[in-house]
Amino acid sequence: MVTQASAGRTMVRSLATRSSKNKHRPDTEGARAKTTPASSEHERRAFKGYIESVREIIRLPATTADPNIPSKRVTAEYCAERYTKPPRNVTMLTRDFIGDSLYNPSYGYFSKQALIFSPKQGYDFARFRDSADFLNTIGRQYEEIERELDDIRSIPRQLWHTPTEILKPWYGYSVAQHIIRQYKADRALNKLPLTVYEMGGGNGTLMMNILDHIREREPEIYSRMEYNLVEISPKLAKQQVSQQSRKHVTPHANVNIINKSIFDWNTIVDRPCFFVAMEVIDNFAHDVIRYDYDTGEPYQAFVRVYDDGEFEEYYEPVSDALIRDYLHARNSLTSPRHKSAALPSALYRRIRSQLPLAPNLSKPEFIPTKAFEFCKILGRFFPLHRLVLSDFYKLPDTIPRAVGAPVVQTRFNGSMVPCETYLVQPGWFDIFFPTDFELLRRIYDAKCRPLRTDTTESRVCTQREFALENAALAHTRTRSGENPMLDFYENNKFLLS
Ligand SMILES: C[S@@+](CC[C@H](N)C(=O)[O-])C[C@H]1O[C@@H](n2cnc3c(N)ncnc32)[C@H](O)[C@@H]1O
Repeated sequence: MVTQASAGRTMVRSLATRSSKNKHRPDTEGARAKTTPASSEHERRAFKGYIESVREIIRLPATTADPNIPSKRVTAEYCAERYTKPPRNVTMLTRDFIGDSLYNPSYGYFSKQALIFSPKQGYDFARFRDSADFLNTIGRQYEEIERELDDIRSIPRQLWHTPTEILKPWYGYSVAQHIIRQYKADRALNKLPLTVYEMGGGNGTLMMNILDHIREREPEIYSRMEYNLVEISPKLAKQQVSQQSRKHVTPHANVNIINKSIFDWNTIVDRPCFFVAMEVIDNFAHDVIRYDYDTGEPYQAFVRVYDDGEFEEYYEPVSDALIRDYLHARNSLTSPRHKSAALPSALYRRIRSQLPLAPNLSKPEFIPTKAFEFCKILGRFFPLHRLVLSDFYKLPDTIPRAVGAPVVQTRFNGSMVPCETYLVQPGWFDIFFPTDFELLRRIYDAKCRPLRTDTTESRVCTQREFALENAALAHTRTRSGENPMLDFYENNKFLLS
């Protein structure tokens, strides 16, 4: 695992929970020394966890700044308004640090022009021998674009590839098919014109494919429908508008591109609508909490940025309203109750407390506070929506020793370099999270649909299951019979309501 990248000054820091500045200190008093590794399974696990914690404690501070200089408490919104380069001598919640690193209009990762890979035309899948042959072709085209980017700019750029683009237009058609089926089946819905809201439209490809399909297959529905796209990036919003004026494209007149973040949404849409969100929530910032081993009380993480640009994480009892609200919503779930994977059993905690230097805080857990805020926005401003949301439910190379941890990576010398911490130079790294879809579904139901009387349950399904229900599979089959629509993106799931 690579832990250092070398663009700029020290960009990757250890998870700095060292005891000297940790507001919630590891409690070592009264601990009894144990010299031999324990033998039962519980004891072995306790010993392993203990070794990891001690390693964390003894990491030495790298900052040369005076920790006693007071720092200013800021949020991502404050930084967006005030700073054109990453601020020093400030403190923020983890979600603000991550949000600022990704979205700050001046130095955020996405402001450095993240691109979404888009082949000029959709692929003719019948021309590929098999999935490997298809992958080779994508790989070659992808590399070519990366080389061009490296030639024209020295900063790393993100080049996303999404199922919308790789499997176009058939992926968008499958989403359209799902929407039409739901719309037709719901009498309350199909008396009114079809209304779609999409969040985070990228190049605008999904929007065009959905609209093309409905125009072609359901002209009557199409004639009264409306498509709204909510996009945070000014550059991508422009590109979405320009989709209508491309050569050989018959424009759609019923489109409305709204250039704003979904978190700034403030209008109530009180008619039934579909809300589509593909590959957007993985970048929604998370907070970090750790639990007191003795009491189970959660502590929220802050990131302190020193004078010299170094970072440190410290913990205080939860006081932030959004974190508290999220934990309350999660703790209110019943049958089954939610149990955090960061808070081990009482037995494990008891064994661990016997060990010398055992810290009194659990390992970190990343909690999806911005995705939770998004659920609240859906519930409040789109009370009659149906959701079509897809994203990653698992990811390789996430940062270690944490629950719900993100991938933190950057492109360096032509390859993606994964890191071991999110405490990295703002603007240089992509930070994206896997989603626990079952948990999201339960929280979404509680927050967005508590009073809904249309009893259709929200449900989670895999990309493969969604494709089997909705995709025209014959069009994405390779000659060997392998089908990328079914087999690729196997780490994606859908939340449908
Ligand atoms: C990885 S791209 C996915 C694009 C497209 N949905 C697809 O599947 O090809 C993420 C998109 O979400 C947008 N986005 C990210 N955060 C957003 C927010 N808070 N509000 C609206 N759009 C957002 C990005 O600008 C980008 O267009």
